[in-house]
Amino acid sequence: MSWRGSGRSNFRSRSSSNGGSTFSGGSAGGPPLIVMMGLAFGAGLIMLIVTIASNATAGGFVAATPRPTATPRPTAAPAPTQPPAAQPTTAPATQVANEPGGSNVVNETPAQTVEVRAAPDALAFAQTSLSLPANTVVRLDFVNQNNLGVQHNWVLVNGGDDVAAAVNTAAQNNADALFVPPPDTPNALAWTAMLNAGQSGSVTFRTPAPGTYLYICTFPGHYLAGMKGTLTVTQ
Ligand code: CU
Repeated sequence: MSWRGSGRSNFRSRSSSNGGSTFSGGSAGGPPLIVMMGLAFGAGLIMLIVTIASNATAGGFVAATPRPTATPRPTAAPAPTQPPAAQPTTAPATQVANEPGGSNVVNETPAQTVEVRAAPDALAFAQTSLSLPANTVVRLDFVNQNNLGVQHNWVLVNGGDDVAAAVNTAAQNNADALFVPPPDTPNALAWTAMLNAGQSGSVTFRTPAPGTYLYICTFPGHYLAGMKGTLTVTQ
């Protein structure tokens, strides 16, 4: 009790000491005008606060009204990730010259096609003899399917073994072009590219004068192993 009393008396004394000077009339009996004004002001203030609060609440409510949340757009399906564009495989310089060629190669529509296949299990051609008419544009399709996994080509030479040996030597010295005959090799009439096992390649050429001609493979060792055949050119 004494604690309250003293506290209160302290408060009052402080209050009176502060307000006393300004509102000295406050200590007179009966609710002084200033108190009434204070109450009115306080009530007004409270009402104002309540109004503001309710407005705020109302406003807040409106704002808080879950707006029709923008219907989540179907998120654009992520663009299908493109597989990295295939790098243009720049043919190694060493293979640029590995192309069909030969003195009888022409860029004309073939009048005839013929297919030669590699022997599946030997360093040999499956067809060891061919016959074609003379002075005819022919497209020869060479199919190098073999079980040995070896490279082959098809090279027509302008003669027999003596000519073939020279062409073969020139080609074997042309490692940079995978052992196809170098351009302008004498007596090399037509050749396909050097093909990996499983590949096919063509060469279009004009058949020479009637006669017999060897065709060989110029991959090192194959001609010597007997990979050759005979083309008979007829009238
Ligand atoms: Cu071969």
